[in-house]
Amino acid sequence: MDKFYVTTPIYYVNDVPHIGHAYTTIAADALARYHRNRGAKVLFATGVDENSQKTVIAAAAAKTQPARYATAMAATWQKTWDSLDIKYDDFIRTTSKRHKEAVAAFFAKIKKADVYKGTYEGLYCVGHEAFLKPDELVDGKCPDHGTVPQKVKEENYFFKLSNYQKPLLEYIKAHPEFIQPEHRRNEIVAFIQGGVEDFSISRQKTGWGIPYPDDPKQVLYVWFDALINYLTVAGFPNENYTQWWPAELHLMAKDIIRFHCVYWPAMLMSAGLPLPKAIFAHGFFTIDGQKISKTLGNTINPLEISKQYGIDALRYYLLREIPFGSDGDFNHARFESVYESELANDLGNLVQRVASMVGGYMKGNVGQVPPFAHDDGPFHQAMGQFRLDKALGEIRDVIRGLNQYIDEEKPWQLVKTDPAQLQVVLTHAVSDLVQLADWIEPFMPQTAEKMMKIFEGPEINLRVGMLFPKKEQQFKKKEF
Ligand code: MSP
Repeated sequence: MDKFYVTTPIYYVNDVPHIGHAYTTIAADALARYHRNRGAKVLFATGVDENSQKTVIAAAAAKTQPARYATAMAATWQKTWDSLDIKYDDFIRTTSKRHKEAVAAFFAKIKKADVYKGTYEGLYCVGHEAFLKPDELVDGKCPDHGTVPQKVKEENYFFKLSNYQKPLLEYIKAHPEFIQPEHRRNEIVAFIQGGVEDFSISRQKTGWGIPYPDDPKQVLYVWFDALINYLTVAGFPNENYTQWWPAELHLMAKDIIRFHCVYWPAMLMSAGLPLPKAIFAHGFFTIDGQKISKTLGNTINPLEISKQYGIDALRYYLLREIPFGSDGDFNHARFESVYESELANDLGNLVQRVASMVGGYMKGNVGQVPPFAHDDGPFHQAMGQFRLDKALGEIRDVIRGLNQYIDEEKPWQLVKTDPAQLQVVLTHAVSDLVQLADWIEPFMPQTAEKMMKIFEGPEINLRVGMLFPKKEQQFKKKEF
């Protein structure tokens, strides 16, 4: 049986989830559901990255202890995903015992060959949890966080990333599917070719974080421990971790690909472990044309939107709107028009009209519906290439095609003139809708369930109600 181990980044707990985090997590959920539906053994993991200085700062602002704060926030993240029908198999917290054990075991594997003590001097941005180069600053500030980085000079332990420049380039060249999409691979290759420096994997003790195994005065660098979460979830270092590792896919946005496509593979090579099969970076999106930012006050809580439009509509809009892999915009007006035209009209009406015709013309029974079992074709190809937007395009084509077929065949006339053809047309329509429900499930699980309820039984079930109620009176932009 195939397996599919897919991960999201583990998110920082200094804030509540916004629509950008929801985007990655919903995409991972759609892929996980797709593979589950095809019978694969799936492990879909998400979680939180707690050992960051951001946790300490946010806890202080909330006048509480970091551990307590992190626990409360972890619950908030988990609850958000539950409320968006995210069917994760594991939710990892990096303060957990299992994670600390995995980190210790991993560290033991790399320390002899690739870890040494040295002094680091640099400009540290807590927002990134990374050192910045002077030429990356704008007016002395981090361009992403607008903050002045801390000048840090301390004795640290280093990982010999420089040992892996050549092996990384060779690996990427030999495995074109390793970093996707292609423009990200090119970006990473250019970065590595430019020369990679050893990086510090510890910080002088800050009172928060995973203690450095051999030196009680240091803690492990948060990215070092965070990346290892993907192994923790697989069960590392227990023997059976190989039933999941290597992961089929690490999903994330483009902001953190250096950590995932350079540091992480080098760490794995050092530990003698196989690399993940694919790393896919999607784009970043803006809201109504603006960067998502706390200071601009335009962050959107996905729960607010799902309350107004429904969970499925939110999931659909996010994944259909942006070519998976490119940047895009979350636009309120667009969302409303997509909801009305593609969901309420094209899909909702289609289901309604087929169901009521089968109910009215055929006493609820179309007879034998031909089975379908095609696992090839452009829809499956798109899913295999993680192109969720394209897969949704295929779904839209089927919906449009079926609407057109019904318009042309006119079952309301056939009922009077040609009952045999009526039977053919409606059987065909129901068969397509059952297949469509299967395709739709990863994206809109509640809608798919309703469609199955309507069409699956020997008799059409007309009591399910509207899939997408028209919203014209309810849309009030200000409420977002
Ligand atoms: N904790 C690290 C990840 C460690 S993984 C071993 C981190 N956390 S984060 O909370 O900042 O999440 C970053 C991720 O959130 C991005 O890679 C992306 O998946 C998602 N996004 C955050 N803002 C986003 C947008 N504006 N647009 C798209 N995705 C966004 O980095």
